Amino acid sequence: MKKLKSLMGKFVTSVVAMTLIVSSMATAAFATGHEDLNAGTYEVEASLTCFVQAMGGVEFGAPLLTGTTVVVNEDGTADMTLSFTTDSMTIYGVACENFIDADAGQIGYFDGSTWKDASYTKSSNTIANSAGEAVHYVDTMTFRLPSASDTYDLSLYINSNVMGVQFGGADAKYNATLTVNWDSAKEIGPPAETVPPTESSSQSSKVELVVEGGYEVEIPATITVDASTKKGNYTVVAKNFVIPEKAYVTVTASKSGALVNGKDSLSFTNTLENKKLQATGDELSGTVEVTTSPSNPGKYAGTIDFTINYYSGN
Ligand code: HEM
Repeated sequence: MKKLKSLMGKFVTSVVAMTLIVSSMATAAFATGHEDLNAGTYEVEASLTCFVQAMGGVEFGAPLLTGTTVVVNEDGTADMTLSFTTDSMTIYGVACENFIDADAGQIGYFDGSTWKDASYTKSSNTIANSAGEAVHYVDTMTFRLPSASDTYDLSLYINSNVMGVQFGGADAKYNATLTVNWDSAKEIGPPAETVPPTESSSQSSKVELVVEGGYEVEIPATITVDASTKKGNYTVVAKNFVIPEKAYVTVTASKSGALVNGKDSLSFTNTLENKKLQATGDELSGTVEVTTSPSNPGKYAGTIDFTINYYSGN
């Protein structure tokens, strides 16, 4: 009797466990795209392929993707966030540290007709590019899913301490393809902003912004004259312009001068574009031209004075 009871007990538990597994698989198996998911935040399995036939055939994308989440909104739209890391590999015996570089190319996705920019975040730590510069690599990218699909074409620049290339994006020779396994979708939270409050009340605050007027004109600290053409080009740039609509700034400069090296003196002329600066980014181009020929080698130096005038326009 005792023996039978305990066997029965085991049998019942294993049936319950089986049912649970089967039912959770059944709900997940319906998902063939985000449109099959209710509003919520999901973790999904996905893989990234950025394959290059050269170098003996290398998959650069797969090891960089560490996680994929999707927020399905109440209106049925969905935003996907991919998390990225860096990856080490050896190619032709050379150690290579790969990462996604927003400074070198486009971080985006194909929306069915055009390539769009995705939003992204950058790491707080850095990694070296081939010029030895410290780069804050892309550690997440987020984009609105353009359609219900299980593959998406992405635009990513994969860089390294050796070389890099653009995958996807207009004119790219290589593809970045994300494949999503929607059956794996696991709900990890509510949709972004639709958790109903338990209680709600309101207060208001005044919003004030005091904008200080001002303008800055960036004049190059040094203008280098090319020894063979005897010309040096430079630009004057308007920065942080917060000025009234009709106001403007002019910049004039000495039209000639001399470069000396102790014993010799060379004459130069200076021409600067005569245009009004009205907004940040406006530029004036200028050219210094040495008009006499140097007879001795050496470093010749001189100065140019710039006058900056502000006009209110009234
Ligand atoms: C240690 C790191 C690397 C080494 C030593 C290396 C070396 C080379 C060499 C020797 C070639 C000439 C073709 C061949 O041998 O097949 C090549 C081609 C190429 N590499 Fe790399 N590579 C490295 C990393 C990378 C990375 C990180 C990327 C981009 C993610 C990349 C993208 C390419 C592409 C696109 C080509 C083909 C260029 C073409 O079609 O003309 N390589 N690489």
